[in-house]
Amino acid sequence: RCQSVDADKREGSNRKLLDNASNLLTNFLSGGSIGSMPIAEGAVSDLIGRPLFFSLYDWFIQHGSVYKLAFGPKAFVVVSDPIVARHILRENAFSYDKGVLADILEPIMGKGLIPADLDTWKQRRRVIAPGFHTSYLEAMVKTFTTCSERTVSKFNKLLEGEGYAGQKSIQLDLEAEFSSLALDVIGLSVFNYDFGSVTKESPVIKAVYGTLFEAEHRSTFYIPYWKLPLARWLVPRQRKFQHDLKIINNCLDELIRNAKESREETDVEKLQQRDYSNLKDASLLRFLVDMRGADVDDRQLRDDLMTMLIAGHETTAAVLTWAVFLLAQNPDKMKKAQAEVDSVLGSDKPTFESLKKLQYIRLIVVESLRLYPQPPLLIRRSLKPDVLPGGHKGDKDGYAIPAGTDVFLSVYNLHRSPYFWDHPHEFEPERFLVQSKNEEIEGWAGFDPSRSPGALYPNEIVSDFAFLPFGGGPRKCVGDQFALMESTVALAMLLQKFDVELKGTSESVELVTGATIHTKNGLWCNLRKRSDLH
Ligand code: HEM
Repeated sequence: RCQSVDADKREGSNRKLLDNASNLLTNFLSGGSIGSMPIAEGAVSDLIGRPLFFSLYDWFIQHGSVYKLAFGPKAFVVVSDPIVARHILRENAFSYDKGVLADILEPIMGKGLIPADLDTWKQRRRVIAPGFHTSYLEAMVKTFTTCSERTVSKFNKLLEGEGYAGQKSIQLDLEAEFSSLALDVIGLSVFNYDFGSVTKESPVIKAVYGTLFEAEHRSTFYIPYWKLPLARWLVPRQRKFQHDLKIINNCLDELIRNAKESREETDVEKLQQRDYSNLKDASLLRFLVDMRGADVDDRQLRDDLMTMLIAGHETTAAVLTWAVFLLAQNPDKMKKAQAEVDSVLGSDKPTFESLKKLQYIRLIVVESLRLYPQPPLLIRRSLKPDVLPGGHKGDKDGYAIPAGTDVFLSVYNLHRSPYFWDHPHEFEPERFLVQSKNEEIEGWAGFDPSRSPGALYPNEIVSDFAFLPFGGGPRKCVGDQFALMESTVALAMLLQKFDVELKGTSESVELVTGATIHTKNGLWCNLRKRSDLH
């Protein structure tokens, strides 16, 4: 007991030291060039032991929707206002780059779309975005159902198998299961490679997880020590990272070589006519190689594939994790979702057509992204001086910012803003629902449908940048529809067969964050076959 009191005292005085240091820094920076912007008087200790975006929310409520935060040796501008978000992401998008994020991701993704400089980005976005056309998405729905079926049959086997026979439920970390499922989907759909991670482990899978882990570590570690000379050889985790990267790069290089060698004119014709019906390999890599000819640069192609592997994997796994977390706490909504699945699908698998009718499931996915946006912060750095639109507490004329200003656009704050949402912290997929006369989607409740008629989901356009499930402006996610369909298929197929409840209390599920929001120790659930099915 004495020891713990001492430890408390020590921690108290450490916190005081940190507070003093951060206040000094804040005062020093307050004379800076960002003028009259409110300054968060937060202490560094606020950032220890809880995800950064929680503290950014508290300061948003305290200081308003644009404020300056002194953090470590740097100042950041934190934005939680839709008009300013629209300005940065869309209207003045090319005056910003990815700043800190590019520094972190460049060693992994090279010149892939996310960290790419503007010139590379312009050229590659034009090539990659058409790859996500409707016929590709339609072909991919089969991949989503195949991979989800693997997961469902793994759970069935566990429920029926030896050791579990007779037991009504099994305990599983669903976060880990969704991670495997999403990895299998992304491997097959982006480069026609079957990781098979739902059922096995392999050196490539381990290397992918190692690399994701390092990307995560780097996005929470604010001193880029990996850039120091020799760090890649001397720091053990950096040596491991280089090793993992080599395994994945070798694997991707081989896939690229194969795709180039197996290029056939008949496939190219089919792709040109968007005819995916008889293609053996409908992957994005096939499209990129076939449509651009064999001369496409291998290094750039590898960077593009690596970027999509990382961008499309953790995000989708995270949205499924939080959707189940939220549903498990709302059994009435889980029943409602199951009723929709039963009436639309019966015992069939989803198809491209039937997916459109799973509207409630889609809204569960979207509402989960409102409460747990992936990533919770968008990061930008101004390339030239700019004026952020005014109308906020304290500065009606807007805030002038110099070139080189680092901006955190808090999607988490926007999505839980008490100024834009009723019951902002409640899980209410119904909030978006409108009664439509026929089955066509006519709009989304609370938003102006004329802004984006027939939008598949409530997006940044209909909400005028109050809701950014997939970002907005020219650097918006290229995989938004893909991810929405994949998550809808996976969730529908899970709920078609199983009831899920949390193993412990919801409070025991701790949040951690790097690039995405995930749990500290997994999402442990009890899973049982649905009792209302025979
Ligand atoms: C960009 C979210 C799935 C590929 C983004 C951005 C967001 C986002 C918010 C914008 C980042 C920024 O402005 O800084 C999500 C979420 C997903 C998801 C929530 C799943 C639920 C996917 C998938 C793919 C993908 C499946 C590919 C197969 C990309 C790429 C970019 C991007 C390449 C960069 C676009 C550019 O800069 O032009 N994503 N994403 N994402 N996403 Fe996604």
